Amino acid sequence: MTSTRTSIHGQWSSRWVFILAATGSAVGLGNIWRFPYLTGENGGGAFVLVYLFCVVMMGIPIMMAEILLGRRGRKNPINTMHTLAIEEGLSPNWRLLGWLGVIAGFIILSYYSVIAGWTIAFIFKTGMGDFVGSNADQTTAIFSELISNPKILLFWHTFFMFLTIYIVSRGVKSGLEQAVKFLMPALFILLLVMVGYAMSTERFLDGLKYLFVPDFSVLANKNLFSDVFLPALGQAFFSLSIGMGAIMIYGSYLSKDSSITFNSFVIALADTGVAILAGIAIFPIVFTYGLEPSGGPGLIFVSLPIAFGQMPLGTFFGCLFFILLMFAAWTSSISLLEPAVTWMVENRKMTRYRAAYIAGFIAWLLGLLTVLSFNHWAFKFSFAGKTYENGLFDIFDVLTANIMLPLGGVLIAIFTSWLMSRSSTIDELGLSDSIAYKIWRFIIRYVAPLGVVVIFFNAIGLFS
Ligand code: TRP
Repeated sequence: MTSTRTSIHGQWSSRWVFILAATGSAVGLGNIWRFPYLTGENGGGAFVLVYLFCVVMMGIPIMMAEILLGRRGRKNPINTMHTLAIEEGLSPNWRLLGWLGVIAGFIILSYYSVIAGWTIAFIFKTGMGDFVGSNADQTTAIFSELISNPKILLFWHTFFMFLTIYIVSRGVKSGLEQAVKFLMPALFILLLVMVGYAMSTERFLDGLKYLFVPDFSVLANKNLFSDVFLPALGQAFFSLSIGMGAIMIYGSYLSKDSSITFNSFVIALADTGVAILAGIAIFPIVFTYGLEPSGGPGLIFVSLPIAFGQMPLGTFFGCLFFILLMFAAWTSSISLLEPAVTWMVENRKMTRYRAAYIAGFIAWLLGLLTVLSFNHWAFKFSFAGKTYENGLFDIFDVLTANIMLPLGGVLIAIFTSWLMSRSSTIDELGLSDSIAYKIWRFIIRYVAPLGVVVIFFNAIGLFS
C-alpha cells in the first residue's frame, strides 16, 4: 500500500535541503570532538576500523530504516511508531520506541549544549590570541581553568541552548537552510586547512599510522568488546544521529520521490569524511607536542589551540574554526530537540514557539548536571569494564550513545524488517524488489540487529 500522508509541520523544499539538514544533524561535535577523543582512548586504528565497520554494516542500513519509518508515518517519532504499528496490525505500544528516542534526545542535548558552550568560549580565547606561541602545558592549563569554572560553563550552556530553541521555535526550515548551505562547506574547507598544518608537523606520519594502522598490541590488556566494539558502535550511532528519532523526524519532511538509499549514503559519507579529517588534523599535533591521545573529552581543546598558536594567521583560523564548530553543533542540536517539540505540538496542541521553550528548558535544567560534572561533582565510576572520570557527564554519554541509541536502532531494525510487511518497505524505499533491496533487507534483518546484540552483551560481560 502506498502512503499519501503529509506532515503538518511542512516539507523540505527539495531533496538537497533534506540532505543538507540531515548532514547538518550528523556532522557536529560528534565528529570533531567525540570521535578523536574516543579514538585516542580506545586504541587508535583498531577503533577506527571497527567504527567504519559499524557505520557500513549497521549505521547506513538503520539510517535507511529510520528515514523510511519517518517518511511513512509523517509525524513525530512517537505518533509515527504508533500509527505505523496499528497500520501493520501490531501493538500500539511500539510508540514507546518513540519515547525512548525523545528521552535520549533530552539527555544528549543536555550535555551536548555544555560542550558546545566550551566551543563558544574557545572562539573568544583563540580570537583574543590567548594561545599564541603556547605549548601543551599552557593550552592544558587554559582548558582546565575553563571546565573548573561552573559559572562560565553555565553561561555558555545557557547561551547555546537559546540558539537551539530559537531555531526550533521558528521551524527547522527557515534559518537552518541558510546555515547548513554555507557553513558546512566552510567547516570542511577549514578542516582541510588544519590537515595542511598537520602535514607540516614532525609527526604527521605517526598520526596517520595511529589512525589507520591498527596496533593490536595496545589491545593486549583491553577487552575487545567493552573497550573497542561498544564505544565504536555507540560512536557510529551518535555520529550519524540515528537511533533516537532525529533522522526519523527529518525523514517525515522528505518528499515521496526522493531516494532514501542515495540520501543515506551521501549523509553517511559526508559524516564519516569529516570525522576522519578531524582525526588526521588532530593526532599529528597530539604526537608532535607530546600530548596524551587518551586525554579524554578535552582532547581537541588542548591540541588544536597549539596549532593555532603556531601557524601563520593562527588567531584568525582558530577563531573561525571554533565559530564553524559552533555552527556545526547548532545544526545538530536542533535535531535533538525537534522530536520532543513536534510531539508537544501534535499531542498537546501547543504552539511550536511555546513547545520549543518548554522542551529546551527541560534540557537546559538537565544540562546543569553536566556543568557540575567537570568540577564540583566530578567522580569516577566503571561500566562494562571501563573507568570513567567525569561523573554524570560520562553516565549520560554512555547511557545514551552506548545503550539507548543501539537499543533504539535494533528496535527500528526489527520493526522495519521483521514486522512491517515487505510490500510497505519496498514501496517506501523505492528500490522495487531489486538486488539492492534484498541486500538491505538481509543486513537489516540479520546482520545489524545481531551485530548490535552480540557487541552489547559481550561488552557487559554476559557471554564471558
Ligand atoms: N550527530 C551529531 C554529532 O555528531 C549529534 C546528534 C544530533 C545526535 N542528533 C542526534 C546524536 C541524534 C544522536 C542522536 O554531533
